[in-house]
Amino acid sequence: MKTEVFKIGGGELFAFDGALSRAAKIIKRGGLVVFPTETVYGLGGDATNPESARKIYSAKGRPSDNPLIIHLAKPEDAENYTHTSPLYYKLAESFMPGPLTVILPAKDTVALETRAGLSTVAVRIPENPIARRLIELSGVPIAAPSANLSGSPSPTSAKHVISDMLGRVDMIIDGGDSSFGLESTIVKLEDDGTLTLLRPGKITPEELSLICNVKIADAVTEQLKEGERVLSPGMKYRHYAPHSPLALFDGTLSEMLDFIKRDGVEDIAIISYLEDGEKIKKSLPSADFYPLGGRDNLEEQAHRLFACLREADGKDYKQIYAPLPSTEGVGLALYNRLIRAAAHRIIKPEK
Ligand code: TXA
Ligand code: MG
Repeated sequence: MKTEVFKIGGGELFAFDGALSRAAKIIKRGGLVVFPTETVYGLGGDATNPESARKIYSAKGRPSDNPLIIHLAKPEDAENYTHTSPLYYKLAESFMPGPLTVILPAKDTVALETRAGLSTVAVRIPENPIARRLIELSGVPIAAPSANLSGSPSPTSAKHVISDMLGRVDMIIDGGDSSFGLESTIVKLEDDGTLTLLRPGKITPEELSLICNVKIADAVTEQLKEGERVLSPGMKYRHYAPHSPLALFDGTLSEMLDFIKRDGVEDIAIISYLEDGEKIKKSLPSADFYPLGGRDNLEEQAHRLFACLREADGKDYKQIYAPLPSTEGVGLALYNRLIRAAAHRIIKPEK
């Protein structure tokens, strides 16, 4: 398939309405368009069209039992596709448009294939102006998973998208780097008026707790046991897995460097905080260093994480190390992505 790559930037958005109308037409006639959002790039198709959903699963190489998020232009549009509730509108008031996805009971208007046969559907109203304009022009809800090949980190730049999706979709809209860089926070609304957090993101449990009671699903921080039932199908997949094994270190930088020296220093890489670079280079000159961002700058770390994993993945390391993040605030989202990429391998220093 021939993929048109279209760059949007360096001007007013209305100047690109011609290209965005073409993209909207592709979606309406059942084709696929990759578009930027503030979290990660999405691989979009018409959520009401079963054939579009099938094409999305196939382009990603994703099992079709893992449902898609539908992207809408405004919170009220959810009425056409879901059964909403007062709590949904409270969340909408505080966090929409933005990086929050809400699971609601679905209406038949959403293709069964889009929601992988479930009675619920995930809804998000993105804030990125290109995404919003594309949804408006399409006039249909856009089903979109992250635009990576299944098993790769989510794409946060057009370069990542092109490497994964060229030849697999009709059009790629290059809208520059994703501003946040980790996928949206996902919550499920419970019948008793509380929320269950299924995937952490920019909207933190602390922020959600200001609206109502929040329970964090075990799978956010823990490894699933064999045969355990999951609340969100995506939780059972390893995800974001670099080809070289990744291990997370739960200790200080000096303890990590001592451990590595004992364990073997050949063909290794370290993903760590900017401030650690000098000490790492001095102590382990043969190791490759990938700066994640400032130690206290969680936003920068979120923005860089998937690019770091992809860069390190381009090489063949015997072992990649990274520090175990804290679980506070946005840290929980970094923790959740990193423990999955590391297949839950956490090393503690010997005391
Ligand atoms: O930021 C994001 O959310 C990006 C952008 C493109 O919007 N999208 C994204 O989609 O990350 P995806 O498909 O890569 O991740 C969606 C997750 C999956 O783990 C899926 O299992 C879960 O949401 N999910 C979707 N519908 C669900 C439902 N009805 N019930 C439970 N989990 C659901
Ligand atoms: Mg994904």
